[in-house]
Amino acid sequence: MKNSVIILAGGQGKRMKIDKPKVLCEVLGQPMLEWVIKACESAGETNICIVRGFAGHFITNYLNGRYPTVLQRDRLGTGHAVMQAVDFLRENSDSNALILCGDAPFIDKETIEGALKLHTQKNRSVTVVTSVVDNPTGYGRIVRNENGISAIVEEKDCDDSQRNIREINSGCYWFKTKDLLDVLFEITPDNAQGEYYLTDCIGLLIKRGKTADAYISENENVSLGANDRKSLLRLNTIAREKNINKHLDNGIEFTCTDGVIIGNDVEIGAGSVINAGCVLTGNTKIGNGCVVGPNTCLNDTVVGRDCILNNVQANQTEIGSGVKIGPWVNLRPGTKIANNAKIGDFVEIKNSVIGDSTSVAHLTYIGDSDVGENVNFGCGVVTVNYNGDKKFRTKIGDNAFIGCNTNLIAPVSVGSCAYTAAGSTITKDIPDGALAIERGSAAIKEGYADRMLKNRVEKFNAKKEQEAEKAKAEKE
Ligand code: UD1
Ligand code: CA
Repeated sequence: MKNSVIILAGGQGKRMKIDKPKVLCEVLGQPMLEWVIKACESAGETNICIVRGFAGHFITNYLNGRYPTVLQRDRLGTGHAVMQAVDFLRENSDSNALILCGDAPFIDKETIEGALKLHTQKNRSVTVVTSVVDNPTGYGRIVRNENGISAIVEEKDCDDSQRNIREINSGCYWFKTKDLLDVLFEITPDNAQGEYYLTDCIGLLIKRGKTADAYISENENVSLGANDRKSLLRLNTIAREKNINKHLDNGIEFTCTDGVIIGNDVEIGAGSVINAGCVLTGNTKIGNGCVVGPNTCLNDTVVGRDCILNNVQANQTEIGSGVKIGPWVNLRPGTKIANNAKIGDFVEIKNSVIGDSTSVAHLTYIGDSDVGENVNFGCGVVTVNYNGDKKFRTKIGDNAFIGCNTNLIAPVSVGSCAYTAAGSTITKDIPDGALAIERGSAAIKEGYADRMLKNRVEKFNAKKEQEAEKAKAEKE
């Protein structure tokens, strides 16, 4: 029989001041709920049910069918939330149930596995994951006796001596599912908050002669949750510093970590330098020996080795090795840039392939294009890929030379080694090796200024003369 996992995600989080469930607030770009799901998955616990409540459709939408949910219509407390998943628990009643808070993102594989091991070895009814902290404010306090723990007391229900206890309830528990089901519906809302506390199960189990004990997590952050924006920022800071430390240990150089945010799944090769203001998220992978930043945001982007990315935005882009990009470049989804290419200032590339050693040095837009190797783009080239209705592709062969301010009206192809004359608006396919000129021919009208400007220049000269005389008179 497989274990059951219930993630509590019904709370509103009034103090976050959002109209979404609190568990969707993000830490390093991922909802807290996702962190908890990932921790379960990494521990191999994938029989998950999520209790949604306030604005629960956001959670259903976010999960997109990945895991089942149950709705908690009225939020009457953590015990009441678990009651909503009773059918799910009954499906595997001979195994263990892991209960987690969706607003405590730092739960980890080691803690989940370590607590289960102890739980089964000692044949306990319930094992509560706890941590010992300097400031226990806001958390349930662990009251111990000689046999283990005797109760969890919420802050609002604490007497003075209980309030001083520094061992706190992380909100993560392993229960014997059968034992949990035996006492779950005996919980009463007889406490300071008038809620059904899941934590009351501990006292009820002990009354029946069952065993309850703690697993003290080695992860000092395991209990940390976010109830307001300040605590959410604190979680972000902790996660951010942890990731930067990991990359420092891996041989990555940071000269200043101001504004540097690196997501959990980002990989960076040794010897690379990350400068200030870099935000690296999603499945971004950077090879060895790169210099990234300042001010570079890469999401789901793969970068080879020995690249320089200065002031670059890239989303869902693949970049080869030895590529130099920036400053002020925007690379949009579906872009693939081959080795040794050069992408210069104010260039935007979308859904296009750029061949080996091709140079796009300045002020250019390339959209929906297939560009060969060793192509040179002059300044200000535009692939005109959209006619207001449909998008079309532009094809440019190897070694082509695209003159400054060329418009390439797609669908169109430029042959290999072909040229376009500067300022051309190309509407026809260009054969290999040809030069295309598509612009008005020059017309020069001699003496035009004499006819058109005479009056204006004379007036201007007269005015200047007057001013000079006036200045001279004032001096004398
Ligand atoms: C809970 C624990 C406390 C522990 C703390 C750790 C109880 C009674 N208290 O307190 O001992 O130290 O977590 O973070 O369990 N939720 C629902 N439905 C509800 C109420 C809550 O789904 O009706 C969800 C919330 O979305 C949240 C989790 O349960 O993800 C915890 O709820 P919260 O109200 O934050 O509990 P705490 O007061 O923090
Ligand atoms: Ca909480």
